[in-house]
Amino acid sequence: MSAPLIVLVGPMGVGKSTVGELLAARLGTSYRDTDADVVATAGKPIAEIFYDEGEDRFRELERRAVHDAVAEHTGVLSLGGGAVLDETTRALLAGQAVVYLSMDVDEAVKRVGLNTARPLLAVNPRRQWRELMEARRHLYTDVARVVVATDERTPEEVAQAVLDAL
Ligand code: S3P
Repeated sequence: MSAPLIVLVGPMGVGKSTVGELLAARLGTSYRDTDADVVATAGKPIAEIFYDEGEDRFRELERRAVHDAVAEHTGVLSLGGGAVLDETTRALLAGQAVVYLSMDVDEAVKRVGLNTARPLLAVNPRRQWRELMEARRHLYTDVARVVVATDERTPEEVAQAVLDAL
């Protein structure tokens, strides 16, 4: 496994950050997260960007963060769960070692619950989750080189499955 860049995609709460940090440690490389880049650029948490400036503005910041990170970073990179909604981002990911971390709805609700730091699931997590996944599942699948299911696996097991799959 020698890809200079591994990109993790998948829904919020699937464990991209935890698995990404484990993977980076195992590979002796560095970890970067585009959500953190957006927060640093905006100078405020993601929920505040959504509420103050709207989702479109957040998506614009996210698109820039993803394009910068893919151009600059070597190691493991996690994208926010909605980054694949952007067509230019999907085109950018073509040919990269992209891993889709998947999970089922019960697991998602258990892990993300009513976490209001994630504005897209703040009202009715189960219904919103289903709608998000219906809109996005094919986008994750389209950009991914491999799909790794995370249900009933520890983050260490998921990291190992990623290494085995690449
Ligand atoms: C979002 C996922 C979040 C964050 C924002 C929007 C989404 O990232 O970018 O709240 O649209 O699915 P994580 O997947 O890292 O939680």
